[in-house]
Amino acid sequence: MTDQEGADWIPPGADLSRPSAARIYDYLLGGAHNLAADRAVAQKLETIQPQVANVARRNRAFLRRAVRFMLDQGVRQFLDLGSGIPTVGNVHEVAQAVDPASKVVYVDYEPVAVAHSLMLLKDNTNAEALEADATDTQAVLSSEPVKRLLDLGEPVGLLAITLGHYLPEVEGVFGAYRDALAPGSHLALTHLTNDFAVLSDPKIAETMRSTQDHIYPRSKAEVLALFDGFDLVEPGLTTSANWRPDRVAAVVDPEEDGLYAGVGIKR
Ligand SMILES: C[S@@+](CC[C@H](N)C(=O)[O-])C[C@H]1O[C@@H](n2cnc3c(N)ncnc32)[C@H](O)[C@@H]1O
Repeated sequence: MTDQEGADWIPPGADLSRPSAARIYDYLLGGAHNLAADRAVAQKLETIQPQVANVARRNRAFLRRAVRFMLDQGVRQFLDLGSGIPTVGNVHEVAQAVDPASKVVYVDYEPVAVAHSLMLLKDNTNAEALEADATDTQAVLSSEPVKRLLDLGEPVGLLAITLGHYLPEVEGVFGAYRDALAPGSHLALTHLTNDFAVLSDPKIAETMRSTQDHIYPRSKAEVLALFDGFDLVEPGLTTSANWRPDRVAAVVDPEEDGLYAGVGIKR
């Protein structure tokens, strides 16, 4: 037994044999839903790159700004792929603060993330969590929560915030979601790249190979291809802190910011 195995947030049958991106990210954001093995990987990442927790925080802040942007555009239903362990500023909290009738479906394949989301959402009739592999696009799109909560005939806010770089093949997956969504739907994503100094050390990808979630950094052209069928809104594909920052002071040198970030609207 490790320190927290048997804790009530760990669902029975969860495979804890390998660290997971969900729990490593939770640790980097200061959360408590992680195990010693996850913390060991997170600390190794921080040794390779001391800025890694700042990158995670800026990614999370981008998520909140992107959801607020979509709400301003009238979007009231969200499909959050690779949603992770709930933390400050979850999509349903941001969306339902603006309109309590906003609908949210969270999708993750990590059982701790899903169990914790379900616990948090037990009294929320407009939000649901689904345990599924986001690459199984048909299973996600035809799932009970998606059918019950989302109207795919109307614009949806599709969130793939630090999801794409966990997938060895992305274009088919993003293309399937795009094809299922109505015109006017929005796509927000962040994606790891080697184009900027901060996360380009190959030891980062090497370290993640000891976890359930291997990473596949992509170039600007490869990330732009994920917006095929969408018009990018200003300022186009940038890095997470630099996408419509709340304050001028929040602008960060892309070499330090590290993750590509953008929002597009389906034609
Ligand atoms: C770093 S966390 C990001 C959480 C949240 N999207 C955010 O940006 O704050 C990445 C999440 O993607 C999930 N993930 C990775 N590959 C996935 C897949 N194929 N299907 C579903 N979830 C996946 C991981 O389990 C993890 O919870």
